[in-house]
Amino acid sequence: MCGIVGFTGRRQAAPVLLSGLKRLEYRGYDSAGMAVRNGDAPAEVVKSTGKLIKLEEKTDHGQTLAGSCGIGHTRWATHGEPTVVNAHPHVSGNCQGSGSGPVESDVVGVHNGIIENYVELKEKLLRHGYEFYSSTDTEVVIKLIDYYYKKYKIGPVDALTRTMVRVRGSYALEVMFKDYPQEIYVARKDSPMIIGISEGESYIASDVPALLNYCRSVYYIDNLELARVLPGEVHFFDLNGDEIPKEPTEITFSVEAAEKGGYEHFMMKEIHEQPRVIADTLHSAVQDGRIDLGISEETLKNISQIYIVACGSAYHVGVISQYVLEELTNLPVRTELASEFRYRKMNLDPDALVVVISQSGETADSLAALRQAKTKGLKTLAIVNVVGSSIAREADYVFYTKAGPEIAVATTKAYSAQLVAMYLFALKIGEVRETIEDIAKYLQELESLPGKVERLLDDKERLQWFASKLSNTNSIFYIGRGLDYAICLEGSLKLKEISYIHSEAYAAGELKHGTISLVEKGTMVISSLTQPDLYEKTVSNMVEVKSRGAALVAIASYGYYSIEDCADFVVYIPKTLPVFAASLAVIPMQLLAYYAAVARGEDVDKPRNLAKSVTVE
Ligand code: G6P
Repeated sequence: MCGIVGFTGRRQAAPVLLSGLKRLEYRGYDSAGMAVRNGDAPAEVVKSTGKLIKLEEKTDHGQTLAGSCGIGHTRWATHGEPTVVNAHPHVSGNCQGSGSGPVESDVVGVHNGIIENYVELKEKLLRHGYEFYSSTDTEVVIKLIDYYYKKYKIGPVDALTRTMVRVRGSYALEVMFKDYPQEIYVARKDSPMIIGISEGESYIASDVPALLNYCRSVYYIDNLELARVLPGEVHFFDLNGDEIPKEPTEITFSVEAAEKGGYEHFMMKEIHEQPRVIADTLHSAVQDGRIDLGISEETLKNISQIYIVACGSAYHVGVISQYVLEELTNLPVRTELASEFRYRKMNLDPDALVVVISQSGETADSLAALRQAKTKGLKTLAIVNVVGSSIAREADYVFYTKAGPEIAVATTKAYSAQLVAMYLFALKIGEVRETIEDIAKYLQELESLPGKVERLLDDKERLQWFASKLSNTNSIFYIGRGLDYAICLEGSLKLKEISYIHSEAYAAGELKHGTISLVEKGTMVISSLTQPDLYEKTVSNMVEVKSRGAALVAIASYGYYSIEDCADFVVYIPKTLPVFAASLAVIPMQLLAYYAAVARGEDVDKPRNLAKSVTVE
């Protein structure tokens, strides 16, 4: 996600900010900016899109920005496209906030996270004469701080606490107030932020690597706390504005380990980010029980067919969505591989909606399929992670998943975010077409998913132990029926792409039509059993392969304890509504694939022959 840095001390700030931002480049970003203050003068703001080198060129490697107090940011777009206006820092005044020379504004700041109620807050601020230039939630929060600062004339700490009470969502905020030269204020909730002190100077960062060149002794700000940072000095406060004591922590790990958040691989880090990604995606679309995916209710009422088109894991999300949409709506659905769809001579329903799912928004086949659909006059909706990507720009409607940058080639968190987006899509259609009665029940269950994913992640040691045994296997089958079959498609792909163990996903009922001939003593078969009405049918298929010598693993919902009579190893997943089971069952499958690949010594984050974004046909 976005990166934050800050510095106040004796040296020129801009070069320190740039070197910190460089350390955060691995997280991915699409634009960057800095604000630097020289003594009492207001802040000077410089921003650019693209790589950091552009910001360096604009400022002659920071040399043209005088002053020893400043803040910096790399932005991964979530609200609004990656443009200079949308880049941070944002300012409180009625001006764009970036140009030549200092900006006359009382508050200037940067932000990581998502402000969920920014639309409502923006309306309030508009009524109070504030103007907006960007489409970001950040500009709203900076102006809200300014509003409280001036309304109550209460100083920075109180202006921030009032803001913190008023906003919903996650944030790491870093701001400077014109009346307080050489000082930086920070606040956080559910978005990391740390402060380091060394030899009369202070450093701020959203992530440890940005600080490691300068200091090893850091303070962690806890949730709903804020801090006043001066050169070589920091004071912490709680939400009441009362000062709180805090002890620094000594950092002993390397830059490389810090980049991965302490995990051995980006894939594991991203697996652990899934609870947050699910919650962020959910909250970005649901406000006060209403789902808004950026596509009108009128459009959803009038469509007569849905085509879902995607590649790889995004295609697997499409297959799951087909089952979910069939369950919750009355619309016919077809899920197609983009590489097939684009060349099919299909007789397409002119009133259909084509949904293209893509993490990168740049996959060549998915983009071509989208263009093909548009040429035929069909309406298109993109479910995309990268803001401003080609698919996002060309589709009629776009909903952005909130997975943040994904570094490991094998997708995990983007897949989970796409699933949530598609559940919401199905619920919205069910609502407008009146095929769902109690939408609140489904939304409530979605709210509980992050906690349930956490529980699965807490139990990972058992899977690690099992994966070490599984890693010697040559071939593995994944079987399931209905939605469980769709879950198996992803489990099998995860395993083969990073561990290089041959694997196949099969609709359990189809095994007997050929593939069962490959099952012999010791063949590993992994079954997914999350759908109550298909449970017994799948168990019968498990018994069939067991009688031919297969070693059985079951991934089953809590309550199906009789599975232990048949399976050799069972992983239970927390109970959920059957339509949402994929979000839970996929977690042990990701972990099994990960641990098997690690046990075999493979390059987990960069598997051979694979690319993160496939922009060729
Ligand atoms: C590549 C990636 C997969 C991804 C697929 C589709 O093969 O390795 O993880 O699912 O492309 O990519 P997209 O960016 O369109 O989701």
